[in-house]
Amino acid sequence: MTSPDSTADIKPGDLRGILKYVPQFRDHTFVISLDGRVIEDENFPNLALDLAVLRSLNIHLVLTHGIGHQLTQLAAQQGVEISDVQGQGVTDETTMRLASAASAVVGQKLMQGLVRAGLRPLLTHAARATEMGVIGGRDHQFTGKVDKVDTAQLEQLIRLDTIPIISPVLFDREGRTLRINSDHLGAELAMAMKASKLIFLTAHPGLTVRGKFLMNVPLGEVETILEKTPLDIDEPVRSKAVQAIRAVRGGVPRAHLLDGRTYDGLLTEIFSKVGIGTMIHGNDYQKIRKARRRDAQSIFNLTKGAVKSEQLKHRTRQSIEKDIESFYIYEIDESIIACVCLSDYPADNACELAYLFVVPFYQGKGVGRELIQFALAETRRLGRAKLFVLTTQTLGYFKNFPEFAECPPEELPLERHDALVKSGRNSRVLVHRLG
Ligand code: ARG
Repeated sequence: MTSPDSTADIKPGDLRGILKYVPQFRDHTFVISLDGRVIEDENFPNLALDLAVLRSLNIHLVLTHGIGHQLTQLAAQQGVEISDVQGQGVTDETTMRLASAASAVVGQKLMQGLVRAGLRPLLTHAARATEMGVIGGRDHQFTGKVDKVDTAQLEQLIRLDTIPIISPVLFDREGRTLRINSDHLGAELAMAMKASKLIFLTAHPGLTVRGKFLMNVPLGEVETILEKTPLDIDEPVRSKAVQAIRAVRGGVPRAHLLDGRTYDGLLTEIFSKVGIGTMIHGNDYQKIRKARRRDAQSIFNLTKGAVKSEQLKHRTRQSIEKDIESFYIYEIDESIIACVCLSDYPADNACELAYLFVVPFYQGKGVGRELIQFALAETRRLGRAKLFVLTTQTLGYFKNFPEFAECPPEELPLERHDALVKSGRNSRVLVHRLG
């Protein structure tokens, strides 16, 4: 569990961002799938309180949970071998028996936590299963998949201010018990309930691709990885990635993967623009776009503080407006959180990146890097050979980009060099030579 003091401090100014999400999610349904490990964690009571916060904001919740962790424990205690842990392979009779027991234990703990947080949960079999059958010549026995979700029942419970919990042990048409993979169950519930979010609370920080953490990914990007190099997605979250994609393809706008053991993690994910886990999105959540004339004031306000501390050169709103064609802004959920200015010097076959700024709350989250990469791509698209950066205080930051090397100011386009000398800012000059 991450300790409370490791979370970022929230300043009153950030409230605007937080409050933006309250009406956006009010009366929306979130399907939340909790891993068994998360329910056992010491942070679980806090997580239950976070769920109570969501309820108080009139967000409708439908919950499901995994049992892999407890199933493995039970098997070890009883000294029996199980045929499959995750509910995707073959579930033999012994495994089914243990899965039912594990599910009862986890369901009970989940209910208890919610009741203690003042909520009204109810375990329900509001989804019907059907057996997986024979795949690749192997009879999957008691492994099932979702056949039908009883949305009417779930909606009724929600109206009664009750939180339905659907366990991954369900019945088929004949009343036979089957074991369902909880990631698959979450996706099915989210699609059937037309949820705005499918949230996987796991024991991992989010989606990692060969160890690299992804903070937010458009649907297509994850799909490509899963198609071409599925093994690049780290094992513990691969099945969640697959199911998240199914859900987003099936109309759920956003799917999230985050560590359910992080203090305040769920609330941070939902009410901040950047979140703490991975978000896979099907819509326009964030984009870098050309600034428009009416963005000049916002850019001016955004960068005021940095101008004061001399990180950025002073520019009036009018001068920003005059140059607006060269500005790009980075928006998250339709509010501006960063900007950059990219000036073209065709005669010198070069571009200059300037006025790169990310609001403090979102610094250290890869936003600056994305803007730099964007500027590089633009420079390339324009066919220029060099990208210059002038910096007074961010030399250290640019050390993260070994492609940028310090160069004598004389290498700058002449008019730029003159302006620099005149400004007396004595900036250092970095250059990225495009091959
Ligand atoms: N709070 C917003 C939402 O819940 C954005 C979350 C972004 N999260 C992320 N990991 N990139 O939709």
